[in-house]
Amino acid sequence: MLSVDFVGLKLRNPVIVASATPSITADAIKRAADNGAGAVVTKSVIFGDANGKPAGNNAKPRFQLYNTPNGYDPRLTEKGGMFSFFRFQEPYPTPEKMARMLDELKGPKGVDIPVIVSICGFTDNYESWRKLARLMEDAGADALELNGHAWNPVVKYSDPTIATVVKNEVKIPVIYKMMGANEDSAKVSRQLVAAGADALTGLGTFGMKAMEVDVESQKPWMEMAHGLGGTWLRAISLAFVAAMANAVDVPISGVSGIQSWEDAVKYILLGATTVQVCAAIYAKGYKVLQEIADGIEDYMKRHDYKSIEDFRGKALANIAASRVNSPPIRAVVTEKCTGCGFCKDCCMFDAIRFADKKSTISEKCDGCGVCWSLCPYKAIEMREF
Ligand SMILES: Cc1cc2nc3c(=O)[nH]c(=O)nc-3n(C[C@H](O)[C@H](O)[C@H](O)COP(=O)(O)O)c2cc1C
Repeated sequence: MLSVDFVGLKLRNPVIVASATPSITADAIKRAADNGAGAVVTKSVIFGDANGKPAGNNAKPRFQLYNTPNGYDPRLTEKGGMFSFFRFQEPYPTPEKMARMLDELKGPKGVDIPVIVSICGFTDNYESWRKLARLMEDAGADALELNGHAWNPVVKYSDPTIATVVKNEVKIPVIYKMMGANEDSAKVSRQLVAAGADALTGLGTFGMKAMEVDVESQKPWMEMAHGLGGTWLRAISLAFVAAMANAVDVPISGVSGIQSWEDAVKYILLGATTVQVCAAIYAKGYKVLQEIADGIEDYMKRHDYKSIEDFRGKALANIAASRVNSPPIRAVVTEKCTGCGFCKDCCMFDAIRFADKKSTISEKCDGCGVCWSLCPYKAIEMREF
């Protein structure tokens, strides 16, 4: 019921481990397979740095989960709250190490799920991409995902030439992972597919510097980390994927902010064939993979869907046209109002009066929707007048 065909690979379910620490060693990948993953994308393979030093760096500690002003509370994540996952450095496998991993993973004590190898060449050095692709195909990769992040790490715009160079080199499927949140996802998707990409992953995250400070000790509790995983990017990524799905016919793998079956279903409803999970594994363990797969299955049973294709892309038709020309509307307080007062200070148009533990909204209302969006009891409706 959950099985999908993704670039010709047969997956038992659409839940893929995204490229990062949870797929950095053969043992890690075996744990992912044991915990229900449909496939894995390995941690990105890179050459050592320009001076021949080992790939990446291994600062300790180097990871920071983040969902409160002063750190992380897993109970908020359990309730579906937004969280971010930052990293300060990370080791990367070399091609030699990845070849040894693939030997083990494809051997008798290996895994029976597809292993997609993520490769990341140097910025503006197509030959490095070509060489990595050749080495990884020869080593037994089932497919390649191109990490558009480009090692040093430099956030670059998606580069279709990388897709062409790799596609011309290998016979296995080539997936391009898009990283530029600020690019026109429809236009660039089309360029990448025209350049040879067999599938696209979106939206990968990008390395913005981040810092938080403890005001008592006056020291950063998180220092110069890179914004990476977590739910903070999900809404942006969902919009990115919807535009991709409307633009191209190749399969799409949705990534960013997936920590529950509902998040996965959202991506599929917007056109994704598979979904990739990263930060949720750090926050909840590998078991989250099976939980997400089971949740998708329950959803399908409830809706009487027999396959992922039965509901893939269904939300695309429900995306409303621009709201700019919507009819005149005003906020109206309904009988559900509990008098909590959350809305009383939010109106920039001075339309809300709060008296006798009730809110009323006057004709000054601009219809902007802040109070409607803010009310915890859904007691404010937007009505035409
Ligand atoms: C610690 C860490 C390391 C990562 N390393 C890579 C990488 O090597 N290659 C890559 O393409 N993406 C890498 N990513 C990005 C993830 O694959 C994924 O796109 C991102 O975390 C968003 O998904 P999430 O919200 O489920 O975490 C890394 C993310 C994290 C948190």
